[in-house]
Parts: sequence; structure tokens; C-alpha cells
Amino acid sequence: MESGTARLRTDTAEAPPVSVSKLGFHVVTTPDVAAIAEHYERGLRLVRSGEEDGTVYLTTGGDHHSVAIRKGDPHGRAGLGFEVHGSLAETGERLRAAGVGFEHRTDPEPGIAAGLVIAEFESGTPITLYEAQESSGEGSVVGVRPAKLGHIASYVEDLAAGHEFYLGVLGFRWADTIGDFFSFLRCNADHHAVNMMTSTKRAGLHHVAYEMRDFMHLKEMLDHLATRDIRMAWGPGRHGVGHNIFTYHADPDGNFIELFTELDVIADDETGVLEPRPWHEEWPQGPKFWSPAPGAANKWGWINPDFLEH
Ligand SMILES: [Fe+2]
Repeated sequence: MESGTARLRTDTAEAPPVSVSKLGFHVVTTPDVAAIAEHYERGLRLVRSGEEDGTVYLTTGGDHHSVAIRKGDPHGRAGLGFEVHGSLAETGERLRAAGVGFEHRTDPEPGIAAGLVIAEFESGTPITLYEAQESSGEGSVVGVRPAKLGHIASYVEDLAAGHEFYLGVLGFRWADTIGDFFSFLRCNADHHAVNMMTSTKRAGLHHVAYEMRDFMHLKEMLDHLATRDIRMAWGPGRHGVGHNIFTYHADPDGNFIELFTELDVIADDETGVLEPRPWHEEWPQGPKFWSPAPGAANKWGWINPDFLEH
């Protein structure tokens, strides 16, 4: 284990934490709501599921919304929504036991009946915890539209505090860490739903990621984006950590959006061992501290330095 990694907690709390089951939505604020909404609707082909008080809601198909876009300073990670196992009452009890304050809101978002809103460690970003979203009724196997919202990555100052918050309070499990600066955390069978990279220069969003059904689905999307003169900032490549095939492009505000497929799947929730894949480095492959060698970021080719700043 490298120096610094010993500070990172890799287990959950002794007292039962909140049990987050899914990343449900993210909030983007922007001076130009129409431009960002256009990118999600006409570029990524999400479906507009609502508009309320100037906020535009779009979905990948299952949930009422995957992204909310509202007027404000440019911020690609202005809020998050996580679905939880169990009731909000139980979730509230667990937050109280962890000493985390929250606000109970009725109808916090369209399609969500009730939520508990907490402040994220360090950033104070509002996080809405809720039981379920109403269905959009759109279905999800349509054209180039992504299958689902996958994960959200951010810059943080204190990675150990991030582990404390997401593992100790919200019940995430540790998936992997590159060096002592880039951690990947999971809340279901997907390898990661939240990842955090330390930075002394940047804050907020690193990237938000949407899942494509397979490589051909991703290819169709890239051809579609090319018709709109949207070009990739990085990729296609295959990450080492998570082993997803990735591409990254920027929205009109410069927020990076990843489109990915073939993300690792957890085979054993207890140990975090992954379903075996031919491109794995180890069998079985499980949670570990990765050397920050180029292959951890891209097994296929070059590294974009913008994605490794810390
Ligand atoms: Fe990612």
C-alpha cells in the first residue's frame, strides 16, 4: 500500500449507514438553460419530461428525470439525487445517528413525492435522498439515447473525508483507488456510481457519465454527435479501473460528459469481486489500490492530461 492510502477508509460504518441504491439524477446550473437542454435533448437524445419554474427535466427513459437544468452560474454538479433502500423514516434515523442534519421536503422534485436533503461533505452540494421516482413512461431502448445515468465524478480536496461521507454515512462500498488520489465507490452491482479525484486547482464536476447498451450503441451515438460537430475530447479507450470503454466530450458550458459501456459488474457484494472479463489484469479481480501507471486510465492508448490533473 502506498503512503497516504492508509488514511482512506475502505469499509462501512459499524452503525448501519444509509443504504443508497442508485444515482438517480444530477443538477446542472447554467446561464443558458436552452443551450444545455438542447445538448441533452437533441445531442444525447434524452427525453424532456418536464419544465417547472424555469428548470428543464430530461430522462433516459425509466425515471421521471436523470438531469435537471436550471439557470445559474455554470456548474455541472449543482445537486445530486440518490435513491435509497428502505423508508425515508429509517433513512432519517440513520442520518441522525451519524450526526448528519437533513431537511424533509415534500415534492422536492417533479416525480419525487418526498426527500431528505443533506449537504455533501466539503462542497455543501445538496443531495436529495428519496425512495423512488415516478416512471417517465418513455421506455429506454430507443435510438441512440443512453440506457441510464451511470456515475458522477468530482474534484475534492480531502479524499479521506469523501470516504468517510460516502462509506460511513451513505453506505457506499469501496471499489478501487488509483494511487492515493482517485477513488471509485459503488452503491449497487455497478463498479462505481461516485468517483472522486483530489485536486488543489479545481473543484466541482470532473465528469458525469451515461451508460450505452454496448459498443455498437456507443458508435451510433458518436456518429450522431459528429453530425452536430460534437467531437470527443478523449477516447474511445478502455479504462483500467472499472474497465469501461469510454469517450468524453464537453457540453456547451465545457462540462465533460462521459459515454461508456462494459463497466465492471460486481459478482460478490461482500468482497467486491468482479464478474471475470478477458481484459482483467487479475482473476479474481477485486477492490485494490492501483499504481498510477498509464494502463489504470487507458489500456488502449493515450492519456489526456486534463483527466489526470491532481
Ligand atoms: Fe467515468
